[in-house]
Amino acid sequence: SKTRHFKWEVEYMYWSPDCVEGVVLGINGQFPGPTIRARAGDIVNVELKNKLTTEGVVIHWHGIRQQGTPWADGTASISQCVINPGETFVYRFKVERAGTYFYHGHYGMQRSAGLYGSLIVDVAKGEKEPFHYDGEFDILLSDWWHESVHEQELGLSSKPFRWIGEPQTLLMNGRGQYNCSLAAHYSNSSSSQCMFRGNEQCAPQILRVIPNKIYRLRVTSSTSLASLNLQISNHKMVLVEADGNYLQPFAVDDMDIYSGESYSVLFTTDQNPSNNYWVSVSVRGRKPNTTQALTMLNYHNTTSASKPPPSPPPVAPLWNNYTHSKLFTKKVLALMGNPNPPPTTHHRRIILLNTQNYIDGYTKWAINNISLVLPATPYLGSIKYNLNNAFDHKTPPANFPSNYDVMKQAQNPNSTYGSGVYMLSFNTTVDIILQNANALAVNTSEIHPWHLHGHDFWVLGYGEGKFSNENDEKSFNLKNPPYRNTAVVFPFGWTALRFVANNPGVWAFHCHIEPHLHMGMGVVFAEGVRRLGKIPNEVLTCGLTGKMFLNNKND
Ligand code: C2O
Ligand code: CU
Repeated sequence: SKTRHFKWEVEYMYWSPDCVEGVVLGINGQFPGPTIRARAGDIVNVELKNKLTTEGVVIHWHGIRQQGTPWADGTASISQCVINPGETFVYRFKVERAGTYFYHGHYGMQRSAGLYGSLIVDVAKGEKEPFHYDGEFDILLSDWWHESVHEQELGLSSKPFRWIGEPQTLLMNGRGQYNCSLAAHYSNSSSSQCMFRGNEQCAPQILRVIPNKIYRLRVTSSTSLASLNLQISNHKMVLVEADGNYLQPFAVDDMDIYSGESYSVLFTTDQNPSNNYWVSVSVRGRKPNTTQALTMLNYHNTTSASKPPPSPPPVAPLWNNYTHSKLFTKKVLALMGNPNPPPTTHHRRIILLNTQNYIDGYTKWAINNISLVLPATPYLGSIKYNLNNAFDHKTPPANFPSNYDVMKQAQNPNSTYGSGVYMLSFNTTVDIILQNANALAVNTSEIHPWHLHGHDFWVLGYGEGKFSNENDEKSFNLKNPPYRNTAVVFPFGWTALRFVANNPGVWAFHCHIEPHLHMGMGVVFAEGVRRLGKIPNEVLTCGLTGKMFLNNKND
């Protein structure tokens, strides 16, 4: 194994992700940030310089478990103090496992501002994947707004609340088209045909293939809000990997991907090589107001990339066809030989009710009536050093009142802000039930993709309505549940997860929709913190831990 060194500078820059100029958070002048490519077992060493003039920054390595390096998880207020303007911080961690991952900002809404990139881990030298392919493409999906993230953030925390609305554009590898369409000539829409001179920042990345080969497409979603559906016209896709774990292969015509998820799909270039084909990405689960993102699959030795495909882009499944989405999600199962969940007896079950409610007239998301507010001192330090005033020491509730009606409009007059932590006994098996409910508006319940830091969990099952201990537990899949780091909870439904609390550290578990997290939709788990050796001082230079160091020096 090797150490892979990267030297990065984060700064705001002008960019035209969708042919409209705006401001993005870039790394080394690039948007999206540079791709990290490593092999399983390597050490990744990123020296990150914050060149923003008035904001802190951190970067989270989504899907990397950070065994033994919880301080490198890159979560502001949880694993570290933010890196101040002008300062440099070194992230150093091991990438143990091959797979498709990404990285992104984890402070305020910096991910929405464009701070993200791909992180791909190949199998170790001499190892083999359980499938064969001839070529590879990586597609990082995101959504883009024309309103600045600062304004979005202000709207979300204002009274009355101002929602950010639907994204202006969907981006593939940071490229999309707002004021023109690649498929304008097929439709009666008012949009004009895109004309590219060749080096526009918004020009689509064409996937150039040769006939009769198998390609691996690695797809990750770093969207701020949108749930997506991807298809390649005329080509079947075979799913083989999710969040760094191999799947029981299955073929589909279109696939869903939620924010925080990653997949590898294989497709075979067995179609007429004198045509081009659409690769399209559309919104699911919210009434779309964003046109589909498009690029082309081009059989490049036989067809010019400028030849339009013979037919219009594929039509996405209806945005609210949840039956279609559930069918897809339930097909995602682990490949035999993956680690299985420990047997039925969990040591602890935590039921997390997801509600939207008002707190003093502000619109918030809450978990068991508590809307997460992050403290000034990172938990990793305050738990390690027993700093009692750093956060709420009352354990947050592990359930909600049994008479709560999840199908009715949210009525939570007692919701509060909180910063409490679920302290998990080291090495115990924890079951989590994510319980969805009706939001503030009548007959509405949203999709929430929940992401766990520091672990993968087994997704034991999905169900409708309120979870019942007696009945629903029997339906758990303990044979081949998918092992992943992100799982969706469908509207008015529940999702059951299991993980082993065996990674010393403090870990966020939250909805990966950035505005939802910003509105309090998350919880914090801590386990085995006392087992950790020394925590590097650099991550604890703020809040009460910062003061502690200062006092020690004066002694
Ligand atoms: Cu990709 Cu805590 O997030
Ligand atoms: Cu959410």
